[in-house]
Amino acid sequence: MMTQYHKILRQSARDVLDRNWNGHFTRPAPSLYPHQWNWDTGFIVIGLATYDWKRVEKDLQFLFRGQWKNGMLPHIIFGNDPEARYFPGPEFWQAERASMAPEQATSGITQPPVFGFALWHAYRHAPNRDEAKTLLRALYPKILAQHAYLYRDRDPAQEGLAYICHPWEPGTDNSPTWDSALQRIDPQQVSIPPYTRKDLQNPRAAAHRPTQADYDRYVYLVDLFRSADYEEAKIAATCPFIIQDPLFNAILIYSTECLMHIARLLDEPTNQLEAWRTRAVAQMNAKLWNPQTGLYDAWDVVQDQRIEIQTSSGLIPLLAGIPSKTQAEQIQRTLEGPMFSSRDTWLCPTYSLLAEDINYEKYWRGPVWINMNWLLYQGAKRYNLDTVAERLRTDSLELLNRFGFYEYFDPRRKSGTREGYGTDQFSWSASCALDWLAET
Ligand code: SER
Repeated sequence: MMTQYHKILRQSARDVLDRNWNGHFTRPAPSLYPHQWNWDTGFIVIGLATYDWKRVEKDLQFLFRGQWKNGMLPHIIFGNDPEARYFPGPEFWQAERASMAPEQATSGITQPPVFGFALWHAYRHAPNRDEAKTLLRALYPKILAQHAYLYRDRDPAQEGLAYICHPWEPGTDNSPTWDSALQRIDPQQVSIPPYTRKDLQNPRAAAHRPTQADYDRYVYLVDLFRSADYEEAKIAATCPFIIQDPLFNAILIYSTECLMHIARLLDEPTNQLEAWRTRAVAQMNAKLWNPQTGLYDAWDVVQDQRIEIQTSSGLIPLLAGIPSKTQAEQIQRTLEGPMFSSRDTWLCPTYSLLAEDINYEKYWRGPVWINMNWLLYQGAKRYNLDTVAERLRTDSLELLNRFGFYEYFDPRRKSGTREGYGTDQFSWSASCALDWLAET
């Protein structure tokens, strides 16, 4: 039932999305992220679809203008606002060096492939499904091309898992999962082009952002890619950071499944999608599943070894129906056990509460992120884990109601959370809330 509390929260969430709309697309947050971000847009359109379908269309049209000719969907599409401060901007990426780049200014790497599922969830909210089908028809081949790119160019061994080549690609920038691979880049030994961070000019966010050492490595990798003119084969051969991530791949598999629903609606064949999905699910279970912890791990392709770091990314395969019923029961025990749950914490910390180096305030090294809770919620529902699904939903809405539409939150109920971290007015936090509230 929609209570007064829900109505007020819904209005505040819409206000966030309305303020972040710039006439062409929804910015993730006006000061810290003033351009268009790939996976942010996926979550944003799901919330927007609950009340403004025209903006869903415009947001997606702007985003897909940035798609590269090989199907790659860049992680940032740059807008035209001369006041927008962001590093790295188009002049640093130099995407025009790539033969595959479009006219539109973009970054040169990708982000989790959310659009298959984003479009499907948005469609389910659409006020007029016939009108919405026109958008589905226009975007379906583009999303298909994105998946073809990932399953072709990002999987040279044809195993069924796509790799990421930069910590910005999975969206979980400074996750402890990346530490060991990033150690291969020694900032004292390699040449790092000069740069100035702009994210630290945001006084609220600065303390909770990645460190300088993180940024040196992020920048080094961008420099490597632009020197290779963004040629995939060169990057695969020279990049010290090539990883198969369970979050990225679970999202890819879920989007593939949702593309199958869309294909059926449009009378399109599903064989290719089905083949990708079957192979990917089998490989997730054969290669990334860890029966010791009840989590899916990431795989370091350069060293050909498992990365045994316990983050919430390892729980997300629930979303895509990847685990068997028995595996899902084990994941549930992991999620409700001391690694991710306690009486004194909100669901779901992004890093194990048992890890000695958990940092409750720092970006992806512990804090709760609302989009991760939304993904996990969908996964829990899928396996009829209704109690934990409901905790994910109520904890998320309560955090947003108490502290505002922040980017991330301290998981500690007592000693920690007094306010949210990162930027406030964060679009996907608002958008996920709108989706949950539409269910109420
Ligand atoms: N997450 C990155 C940042 O914070 C961008 O993709 O700038």
